[in-house]
Amino acid sequence: MTKDVADAIRERRSIRRFTSEDIPSAALSRLLEAACMAPSAGNRQPWFFYVVRKAEIRQGLVKAAFGQSFLAEAPVDIVVCAEPERSSGRYGKRGAELYCLQDTAAAIQNLLLMAEGVGLATCWVGAFDEQAVCQVLDIPKGRRPVAIIPVGYSNLSQSPQPPARRNVADVIAMVD
Ligand SMILES: Cc1cc2nc3c(=O)[nH]c(=O)nc-3n(C[C@H](O)[C@H](O)[C@H](O)COP(=O)(O)O)c2cc1C
Repeated sequence: MTKDVADAIRERRSIRRFTSEDIPSAALSRLLEAACMAPSAGNRQPWFFYVVRKAEIRQGLVKAAFGQSFLAEAPVDIVVCAEPERSSGRYGKRGAELYCLQDTAAAIQNLLLMAEGVGLATCWVGAFDEQAVCQVLDIPKGRRPVAIIPVGYSNLSQSPQPPARRNVADVIAMVD
């Protein structure tokens, strides 16, 4: 049973404390399938996912992410990569510099929302040394790590308060 999409959008929070409990591989598959359902420019699907369970690699990711230790607390880290050449093949510079990043971001958001839907906790981690992540995972040249997503069960007694959002009215221009 998953949450209604509106509830998942509203209730998803970045979680930075995890229990060590492993996550069922069926749930993990649902997350990855949701990611791969994302829209992408020209349907190029310029993404690739490293599903990291190995403890020493997760420790390596902590180092690469400037000591964000919750990456080693979670039982799984998903390293989401963009493959710029898949997009540039059809769209040139705009594909390589913009579309492939938009596409992977859409995939990440799908993954986060599906995780919320099935009761798993996540955090979108973007602060890391790209080269260090490539070294830790032996990522080939054509892939660019875009985000690291720890996935697990929250170790918090309750969901954190949502950080304040800008008012919708302040970020809208109505063009009638
Ligand atoms: C592109 C991006 C990069 C982020 N990088 C980090 C990060 O490196 N570490 C971290 O703890 N949170 C990171 N976050 C999570 C944000 O801090 C979080 O989404 C924001 O504070 C709003 O909170 P919420 O996700 O609970 O709604 C990142 C989020 C995005 C979208």
